[in-house]
This record gives sequence, structure tokens and C-alpha cells, in this order.
Amino acid sequence: RRPDDHVVVIFGATGDLAKRKLLPGLFHLARAGLLPERYRVVGSAPAQFALDDDDFRRHARDAVAAFGLCEPTGEAWRTFEASLSFGSADPDDPGPLLAKVRAAEDAIGGRPRRLFHLAVPPAAFGSVIKLLGETGLSEGSRVIVEKPFGTDLASARALNDTVHAVFDESRVFRIDHFLGKESVDNILALRFANGLLEPVWNRDHISHVQIDVPETLGLEGRAHFYEETGAFRDMVVTHLIQVLGTVAMEPPVSLDAQRLRDEKAKVFEALRPVDPAHVVRGQYEGYRDEPGVAPDSQTETFAALRLEVDNWRWAGVPFLLRTGKRLAQQRQVITLGFREPPLRMFPTEIAGRDKDRADEIVIDFADPGWIAVRFLAKKPGPAMDLAPAEMTFRYEDSFRLSHGLEGYERLILDAMLGDQSLFTRSDGIERIWEISAPLLKSPPQTQPYAPGSWGPEPAVGELVAPGHWYLPDH
Ligand code: BG6
Repeated sequence: RRPDDHVVVIFGATGDLAKRKLLPGLFHLARAGLLPERYRVVGSAPAQFALDDDDFRRHARDAVAAFGLCEPTGEAWRTFEASLSFGSADPDDPGPLLAKVRAAEDAIGGRPRRLFHLAVPPAAFGSVIKLLGETGLSEGSRVIVEKPFGTDLASARALNDTVHAVFDESRVFRIDHFLGKESVDNILALRFANGLLEPVWNRDHISHVQIDVPETLGLEGRAHFYEETGAFRDMVVTHLIQVLGTVAMEPPVSLDAQRLRDEKAKVFEALRPVDPAHVVRGQYEGYRDEPGVAPDSQTETFAALRLEVDNWRWAGVPFLLRTGKRLAQQRQVITLGFREPPLRMFPTEIAGRDKDRADEIVIDFADPGWIAVRFLAKKPGPAMDLAPAEMTFRYEDSFRLSHGLEGYERLILDAMLGDQSLFTRSDGIERIWEISAPLLKSPPQTQPYAPGSWGPEPAVGELVAPGHWYLPDH
């Protein structure tokens, strides 16, 4: 199904996100024949960053060349490029943007739908939304709001009020690009399309769940944003708890957006408020010397925490979440560890690390991702010696396409189609801020860690009792 004709407006069109993800993503969608038959893309930014149409096209070409999956060449590029224009917008002067949107609508003809993507810093969400309301651009339109959505419960509520004064919830698409990842979406298929796994996907069989997103990346020139945000808001609230929602949810009655999001909201409802004693905050050594970072900054660049989902399925199963900048590896991994069988009847003990690596399901959700089932097997030979073994699913082994749409591409397409399934909902976001309140109120001290390490050990290890926090490698 192709979306209706559209004018897509990107606020923050000269910014980092537009350059890395949105412009390359839109071009990839265009090349794949997934954009509407008739569309236009209008870039926007405050007048001080204004470009003319030709400069914006060059900017887009450079962005696609640097970050896109396909080269900005040939007929496909020329068609896409011709769809681009730029109109600046300031709260007291939205005129240039209005003129470009009108021109784009006239060029398409009929009544194309408008989709606004707010790729601007969170502090600017409110003023852009107001501008859309005051100019009437909001009428009949949809809006994609970037993350983080608020900084705490009060600000998320206030932002929801601002948004809802202009757009009703059915037209609001709060983005978490992790939910657009192919291998996160695949968790629904894995769990609910197979009789094999779902029966064991609960506290009777699973001893713990780990969601790990270590990054080797540092600030990438985003000190201003990051100083205000930190790892907990940037990653845990925004992405990791959303992934937890997909892992922990009950089977929905159907796959429509409301049912799916109802089930996730119930998981968030069941989350126990974060206990600051179950959180480790870290800051990599050298962070305070980065340009734009305060010399006495307390911002955490690492967060590890233990969460509990107080419901029938998960009571007593720790959910261990960990993420941070400048860590040893760049990974995105969910691990479900299984309980030991009731009786140990094998003569040999599996020692140390090997023991931890057996009897688990590992879902690597970095594009393109893989899934491994690890188990203990008898080592060939006369003795009953056990060793870890595994079965692995890789996209490229089973499907011709090892790589579908990138997270942002999938989500922009879904927003054009009006499908909210993979977007976060106001009640879910507010609940996540609500359970975060004790931590935001009394955050533990940040502890230093060496760049390239696994964060402030042994504090992190203490969160995992009994057991041992490790990242399955491959
Ligand atoms: C973003 C965060 O939302 O997600 C970044 O702001 C982080 O700090 C990024 O690096 C990770 O996402 P990806 O696209 O690498 O999966």
C-alpha cells in the first residue's frame, strides 16, 4: 500500500538528524517506490539558518552521499531532488514556509496530506507546534515528534497538553526509532507466531532479561544536547524501556495500533518505580574536557539499572538495562536467560563464563540483527562432558533481503500511512516518566569509568545478584 499524496515538512532540515537519517531515508523510500505517487519535501529552519532551494538540494545530496544506502545519482535522484524546496519559519515570520508549502501543494494538485517532522531540539517542540496551530498548517495534518519527549513527568504532561491543543492523539507520531528496527518488530513474530517460544516466555522459565546497548560512540558534537539529557533520558527512557515493552507485553488481541499499544501501556503500568539503589550512573573519564561540557558536569554517560515488572508473567524476574557512551563495544542486544533445570544430573560442572553463556536466547537487534538459541550439548567423545552450543538465525540465510528498511524509514512511511503501531503514546510516555521520578529526584553519584571499558565495575556487577553481567558476543 502506497501512502496518499503528501507534502512532508522537515523542521530542523539543516540539522544533524535530517542529515544522517531523514534526508537519506526519504531518498531510500523514494528509490524503493514506497513514497506516494506525488510528494514534495519542504525543508525548514529558523531564518538564521535559511537556505535557498538549490543550496538545500545540494545539502540533501551531500547528506545522501555521506549517510545514505544508495548514491544520489541517476533518474531516481533527479526526481527526488526536484521535489525538494526550503522555506524558513520563525514564530513571528512563518511566511516563507507557508509560501513553500502552498507552492508544493499546488504542484501536487488536489488535497495532499501534510506531515510535519519535528527534527528540532526538545526545547523547540512547543514553539513549532504553536506555529503549526496559529498558521492553520496543522489542519488535517500529522506530526512526528522527536525524542526525548519531556524531561520528567511534569514537562511530558505539559508537552502533551501543548501538542493536544493543536493535534488530537490520532495525528501525533512520537518517534522512537528503535521500535522501527526490523529486528525489534520481529520480536512480535518470534513470540506470537510460534508455538515454540511463547510457552516458556515467563517467570516459570526465564530467570532474567538483559537489554544492553553499549556504544563506542562519544558525544559526536552533541555536547549541548547531551549535557542536558544524559544517558538515562537519551537512551533508557526513550529506547530501552520501549524495547522492554515489546519483550514483556502480553499477546495483543490483534495487531492494530490501539491493541498493541494498550498491551505495552500495561507493561509500563506494571513497572515498579525505579529504585535509585538499583541504578548505577557513570561518566567516562575525559567527558568533562569535551568541548561544551561543564568542568563539574554531573551528567551520566552510562546508566545500568534493575527494573521489575510487577505482573503475573514477570513477578520476580529482574530486567537489567545497560547503556553508555565510549564503552568497549557498539551493540544492541536482548538476552533472556533460562532457569536451571530442577535437577543437575550431569557429572561435569560447566565452569565460569561458559556456564553463563548457555541456556539462553539472544536477540541482537543492531541492523540487520540475529537471534541465537544457546544451550548445553554433549561434547562428542566417550565422556558425558557438556559444552555450550548454539543455533543461530541470520536474516541473510533465510531471506533474500538481509536488510529491509532502516528504523527511521519504516517509521516515516508508517506515519504517512497513518499507522501508529510503532509510535509511543502519551499515556505510556507519562507512565515511564512517573516510574523514573524517584531516580530523577535522588540520582546516585556518577562514578568514573575508563573509556573503552564496560563502565563502573564492580558497582554494575552488584546490580546482578546472583549472577554475572556479561554481553554475549558472536
Ligand atoms: C539516539 C541517541 O536516539 O540513538 C543517541 O540520541 C544514540 O545518543 C542513538 O547514539 C543510537 O541509535 P542507533 O541509530 O545507533 O540505533
